[in-house]
Amino acid sequence: NGELVEWNGEVLELYSPICIPTENGLQRKLLGSVPNTGVKEALEALDASVNAYDNGFGEWPKMPVEGRIKCMQKFVYLMGEQRDLIIKLLMWEIGKTLPDSTKEFDRTVDYINQTIDALKDLDRESSRFEQAEGTIAQIRRAPLGVVLSMGPFNYPLNEIFTTLIPALIMGNTILFKLPKHGVLAHYPLLNAFKEAFPKGTVNTLYGKGAEIITPIMESGKVNVLAFIGSSKVANGLKKLHPKVNRLRAILSLDAKNAAIVTKHADLDVAVSECLLGALSFNGQRCTALKLIFVQQEIAEEFNKRLTAAVSQLKAGLPWEQNVKITPLPEVNKPSYLKECLDDAIAKGAKILNENGGYNEESFVFPSVVFPVTPEMKLYHEEQFGPIIPVVPFEDIQDPIDYQINASHGMQVSIFSEEPREVSLLIDSFVNLVSRVNINCQAQRGPDVFPFTGRKDSAEGTLSVFDALRSFSIRSLVAAKITPANKK
Ligand code: G3H
Repeated sequence: NGELVEWNGEVLELYSPICIPTENGLQRKLLGSVPNTGVKEALEALDASVNAYDNGFGEWPKMPVEGRIKCMQKFVYLMGEQRDLIIKLLMWEIGKTLPDSTKEFDRTVDYINQTIDALKDLDRESSRFEQAEGTIAQIRRAPLGVVLSMGPFNYPLNEIFTTLIPALIMGNTILFKLPKHGVLAHYPLLNAFKEAFPKGTVNTLYGKGAEIITPIMESGKVNVLAFIGSSKVANGLKKLHPKVNRLRAILSLDAKNAAIVTKHADLDVAVSECLLGALSFNGQRCTALKLIFVQQEIAEEFNKRLTAAVSQLKAGLPWEQNVKITPLPEVNKPSYLKECLDDAIAKGAKILNENGGYNEESFVFPSVVFPVTPEMKLYHEEQFGPIIPVVPFEDIQDPIDYQINASHGMQVSIFSEEPREVSLLIDSFVNLVSRVNINCQAQRGPDVFPFTGRKDSAEGTLSVFDALRSFSIRSLVAAKITPANKK
């Protein structure tokens, strides 16, 4: 509720994925600590959001669009002043490279500015009058209430803000839970929220999600759940709401995006784009390429080139020049990835590159695994790490069948220079996933494009225009056309 509170309770220690030598060997560096707030504080924060919304009568939901835009512009200005610090914190907290941390900050600022521009357009559209069957109506975009926003560690700033910002600017009040990693990167912004928006409009939650989010959802006071993470958690959260049918959910969830490299592909393009798609930020992206289907005739040559490219990747610390592979923030990730590799090897696959799978504490070197088959964990699990599973195929229908049978449907990348084949594959995939990439990696951006998924991959659509619509309702002001009303 915009107040600084003295905290004498328990704290959560935050460790960096970056390890330092200690008496007990290499260990993750302690970065700091934050309050481990409990149920009482979480419910107080919820009530602050509910009171600030005040059934639509609060200062924020009542504020005209121009006023909300001014507040957001002030916020983005204050955010800009913290750029260097936030980029540094991203590198230390989640191990993201300097270019990628910089990109995350800058694209988030761009997203806010694009959202402001989109709202101006939407407002112009909304202030038009429509007439039909003797009735005249103005369609207003109205807020929905209290939005609970949660996002994952891989884009702690960008992903939370891609729901928080559109929800906020549409007049909703916000409660947002910081991800487990990427907490400190938000710290420099707490004052900016306080200075830019009316009291209680944005409330930030620390603490353990499982403990504090349950009572918030059970209270029934959340109107919109904006969640980016796993389908399992999202479904669990929705079920906690006593009026689940009235809860609007904007979700971006599981994926396991495939690349299809046919015998007609330009192999240099396919290798460099698959490398980017599979290993950017160590494969910790929901849009990452997680299965590479390669046509049998070219599999050997493709694997040779891909393996050579992976072997040349420089591993190191996020701020070092040309580094591509960095330490992983999730403590259990290295052992889980080893389990996936052991499972594939036991079922007949090989790691093709030297050093593939080598790990030390938080650091795991990427591996190219071949041939991956449907019996293996690597074929089904998203794994969210630096492994490239390569699946050989003979019939072009095989990767199509993979997508038909999958429980998710986010993106696919097709690599082929043969127009008829490309066209056939586009037609097959366009109704199975939400984005088909031609001769390029899978990715969310440009962020003005709609971002969604099919099946278990998403509910609702994010990104600028669609997000503004997702976090609002079209409310009509209608009247019969009479001479008096026309005036
Ligand atoms: O993890 C999901 C992110 O929104 C992906 O964004 O494709 O730009 O890396 P990206």
